[in-house]
Amino acid sequence: MAAATSPVPKRLLFGPGPTMVEPRVYNALSQPIVGHLDPYFFEVAGEVRDLLRKTFGTRNELTIPISGTGSSGMETAVGNFVEPGSKFAVFANGYFCDRLSEMGKRQGAHVVRLEKPWGEVFDSNEAADFIAREKPAVAAFVHAETSTGALQQPKVICDAAHDAGAIVIADTVTSLGAVPVNVDENGIDVAYSCTQKGLSCPPGLSPITVSPRAVERLHNRKTPTSQWYLDLKLLMEFYDGRKYHHTASATLFYGLREALRAIFDEGLEKRFERHANAHKALVRGLADMGLSMHVKEGHRIPHLNTPRVQPGVDDAKVRKHLLEKHGIEIAGGFGPLAGKIFRIGVMGPLATDMNVHMFLDAFKEALAV
Ligand SMILES: Cc1ncc(COP(=O)(O)O)c(C=O)c1O
Repeated sequence: MAAATSPVPKRLLFGPGPTMVEPRVYNALSQPIVGHLDPYFFEVAGEVRDLLRKTFGTRNELTIPISGTGSSGMETAVGNFVEPGSKFAVFANGYFCDRLSEMGKRQGAHVVRLEKPWGEVFDSNEAADFIAREKPAVAAFVHAETSTGALQQPKVICDAAHDAGAIVIADTVTSLGAVPVNVDENGIDVAYSCTQKGLSCPPGLSPITVSPRAVERLHNRKTPTSQWYLDLKLLMEFYDGRKYHHTASATLFYGLREALRAIFDEGLEKRFERHANAHKALVRGLADMGLSMHVKEGHRIPHLNTPRVQPGVDDAKVRKHLLEKHGIEIAGGFGPLAGKIFRIGVMGPLATDMNVHMFLDAFKEALAV
């Protein structure tokens, strides 16, 4: 007899990701698969690449989804551009900056870090001093640091790095699709992301885009990239040359294409505005309940909000109540922010006034339990 299984629970994903997926994307995911070398697969991949360029704000030819989650994009960026023995400068103000540093170390790079408390961002003087002092080959930062709720201005870091001849890697895992990334305007050389946050798609692919200046670095590498699977030169032979590299999932490409089409049906600017408005409504509602925000105004990720846990409140109990009574998922803090903040994502279909107010009612109830 087959074992009894629980039905899939209905959740409202107000956490840092994954986020809610629209029915049209689920529908696309159920379409029949084709092979990874089928002309139709490359037609879908071509449209996905075009729409990703628009979402990233770039004309970079080398713009593709990596088969894997956001960390695979991070590993692709570090593995292809941070060479053994080279200097890798990391702007460190949260958990994912630490992951970038760890990947740099594993590549055999000399990792140098500029540290800031979790929740703060870097200004142009700090960026310029650090880069001028260290003269790295590559610098990296996290645009939207999911562990803290802080949004880093890319240009201050890119300008400083370019003045010193360094290229810049930006983690845009939590920013792409919900706030402007503007890769070309900001001068970001390599940006990677994921599908399960601002793009409102299930996890499984990691969009990456690479500037011509960074492509040149790739061609001038002294040693081959150590990871075969994530070697961008080989991946370009697959996506441009249609030469077998790995069995890319047509299903995930259908889903991503539909999620991107939905974004452009709404309009990118309108989508950003909707997220910004939902953020304002949420922060107002939280303030009315007496909660203060961990990140200073002006430095906040609009769609990943981090109010402080009030004294005497057990954040785990609040999260448990929300999940059990309302099917609402939010996250807590970790590392130095464990027990100190809530992490509330208001992304994609959830970023409306109505959903924010529904959330606030449930949150107020949970805080009182
Ligand atoms: C800023 C940031 N970078 C990287 C990652 C890693 O992405 P994934 O969990 O999809 O591998 C995450 C995941 O939440 C993230 O928030």
